[in-house]
Amino acid sequence: MLEIKNLSFDVVEDNNEKDILKNVSLTFENGKLYVITGPNGSGKSTLVKIIMGIKKASAGKILFNGKDITNEEIFKRANMGISYAFQQPVTFKGLKVKDLLNIASNKTNDFNTLCNFLSTVGLCAKDYINRPLDDKLSGGELKRIELAMVLARKSKVNIFDEPEAGIDLWSFDNLTKIFKGLKDSLNIVVSHQTKILEIADVVILLKDGKVEKIGKYEEIKPYIEPATCSKLRGVNG
Ligand SMILES: Nc1ncnc2c1ncn2[C@@H]1O[C@H](COP(=O)(O)OP(=O)(O)O)[C@@H](O)[C@H]1O
Ligand SMILES: [Mg+2]
Repeated sequence: MLEIKNLSFDVVEDNNEKDILKNVSLTFENGKLYVITGPNGSGKSTLVKIIMGIKKASAGKILFNGKDITNEEIFKRANMGISYAFQQPVTFKGLKVKDLLNIASNKTNDFNTLCNFLSTVGLCAKDYINRPLDDKLSGGELKRIELAMVLARKSKVNIFDEPEAGIDLWSFDNLTKIFKGLKDSLNIVVSHQTKILEIADVVILLKDGKVEKIGKYEEIKPYIEPATCSKLRGVNG
């Protein structure tokens, strides 16, 4: 279980203090899928980055299975079983796909196991296992490899910030299947996608740095503003 208590994040911009997150408290239970949604700039990425330890909260506490991790470094949180998939995939020069998957699962996997991870994300293992992670891979391929890494990691908590970004050539159905298949872990997904919102156990609607509504998608739906044109959305939207 992950608990967030009275979390705030303030920045000073042009001598003015800006509250990005305002006294956010949330409880995330194991085995459930939480989808955080809300307008661009509402603080979604900031919130999940604070949970991972990429950003540090100005105030408040984070408890993981009862242990206070508010001041723990990223790698310590990762060792405890919290994992984060980036909004934009990262390339690792000189490494092959199989190396990355073996590193992620902390062991040398046999071909069949690697094959399972890759086929779940819609990649044919024999074509990809020995592929170097370089700029010859498309954004969509990298995104899927990153999802395969998440599967290989088998973390207790998986955090995804807009996983749909860059998978335009691949169906959302596959993405939702992956989330459904990650049932043993606690999954926190930032997303605007209806298909992902629909499969959430709990939808959290953030607005202006505050939790506006929380519940099943059907209950939250009327409060969600129509999606902004994706072309107008910033890279971090
Ligand atoms: N370090 C920072 N300094 C100044 N402004 C920031 C900083 N981090 C985030 N912000 C601002 O906080 C708001 C929320 O950002 P973000 O969490 O990325 O929103 P979302 O992911 O919901 O689109 C945005 O207006 C963003 O510009
Ligand atoms: Mg964001």
